[in-house]
Amino acid sequence: PDLHAPAHGSAPILVASNRGPLSFTVEDDGALSLRRGGGGLVSGLSAIDDPDAVWVCAALTEGDRTAARQAPSGRLDRAGHDTGGQHIRMLEIDPGTFARAYNGIANSTLWFVHHLLYNTPVQPDFDDRFRKEWVSYEAYNTAFADALAEEAAPGAAVLVQDYHLTLVPELLRERRPDLRIGHFSHTPWAPPEYYRMLPDDVAGDVLTGILGADRAGFLTRRWAEAFADCCVSVLGAAVERPAGGDLLVTHRGRTTRLGVHGLGADADFLRERSHRADVESRLAALREAVGDRRVVVRVDRTELSKNIVRGLLAYRHLLRTRPEWHDRVVHVAFAYPSRHDLPEYREYTAAVQRVAKEINDEFGTERWQPLMLHVQDDFPRSLAAYRLADVALVNPIRDGMNLVAKEIPVVSDHGCALVLSREAGAHAELGEDAITVNPYDVIATAEALHQALTMPTADRTDRCKRLAAAATALPPQQWFLDQLHALG
Ligand code: G6P
Repeated sequence: PDLHAPAHGSAPILVASNRGPLSFTVEDDGALSLRRGGGGLVSGLSAIDDPDAVWVCAALTEGDRTAARQAPSGRLDRAGHDTGGQHIRMLEIDPGTFARAYNGIANSTLWFVHHLLYNTPVQPDFDDRFRKEWVSYEAYNTAFADALAEEAAPGAAVLVQDYHLTLVPELLRERRPDLRIGHFSHTPWAPPEYYRMLPDDVAGDVLTGILGADRAGFLTRRWAEAFADCCVSVLGAAVERPAGGDLLVTHRGRTTRLGVHGLGADADFLRERSHRADVESRLAALREAVGDRRVVVRVDRTELSKNIVRGLLAYRHLLRTRPEWHDRVVHVAFAYPSRHDLPEYREYTAAVQRVAKEINDEFGTERWQPLMLHVQDDFPRSLAAYRLADVALVNPIRDGMNLVAKEIPVVSDHGCALVLSREAGAHAELGEDAITVNPYDVIATAEALHQALTMPTADRTDRCKRLAAAATALPPQQWFLDQLHALG
């Protein structure tokens, strides 16, 4: 080691997340091509004009690993890549360690726990394979903590994102007690009786990991309360609930503040982006396909928690019980590929496709295709469907927020009705003007679709205006700045 190297870096603001804002693909000729991603965090970070802010993320693809390896200390911007002016450090983590941490612990164990996805008579089974995955998750979190400790200027603010990085706050505090550390959960948080399925040491380590932060952020009060309940149940921590203020959790003499920041849709971006030529051409094609029929739209990752199969069954029930809709409605369902390394996701995708086919076989006619399912990711086509929607269907089993529920009312051309699961975080803000459903109740969801399809136009457009206003109350840039300011 260089004994003269400073024990800190120069970044006053840092963000850490598993998935970064860009990704590389190795082309056939061996060259790297770069693709920029979107999402709340990417737009949020654009609010920061500090030229020295650094984003630390993991190398996810073979192309990412190549790019990270070629860049000095994994700093892509220093290797001349067009990072859009951002300083990005991509961590090359041994592929086996990464797979065990990401697929095994993050996306199987923690995601399943927080979204209540286990089929409990057979899952989970915390065996020696799980233990190996957990050791990898610790190593992966340690790699992030080390990189952040290296990049951060004295007293810097560090914003750590999501369930992939729950151990980072505590690990980073051990390395750099001078830093101001925030953690943000983009998922729901499990209630204690479900959370305590985790082995006791793991359940405790995840909580104390996050409590290493000065502030732990959540998308709704409900998830913050659940986190606090778990701290009491697992750690015996003390919780204060000052009237009208943030929850405070005290454990081993340190207090962590729980903040609630309901990430909103990015209205300016969406309105501009949804009127570009690539969206217009897709909208024309969709219009041609659906004709003058009513349109029910859903757009999701093919994700177990999104409840796509029950949504399709509800649509089938609608067509079975209300034949007046035959040839008068089309369901446009986009279910984009996600996490296909996990067998549960591959099976779920197959189930979605099977039910979709059954519906078209049962009701389709020469002139009418009742369901249009697309599984190829296409963002401009999603926006075109948002514009066309008469009804938006968002029925997750459980969801941290669900931005689609917030985006469709902002973009829809003639005011859509929203059928919304009461288990989506967005329901806390949109519930009053949405039609609320219990996501497990297929018949009630079918009824809600009928109600949405028959809602009088004036009512629908009024509600949609209020939905759009609520959905955009906290734009991503402000969401991000609020968290930064709250760190002091
Ligand atoms: C959720 C998580 C994000 C994650 C995203 C996509 O929204 O909260 O952290 O990036 O899903 O999942 P993926 O595994 O593809 O990154």
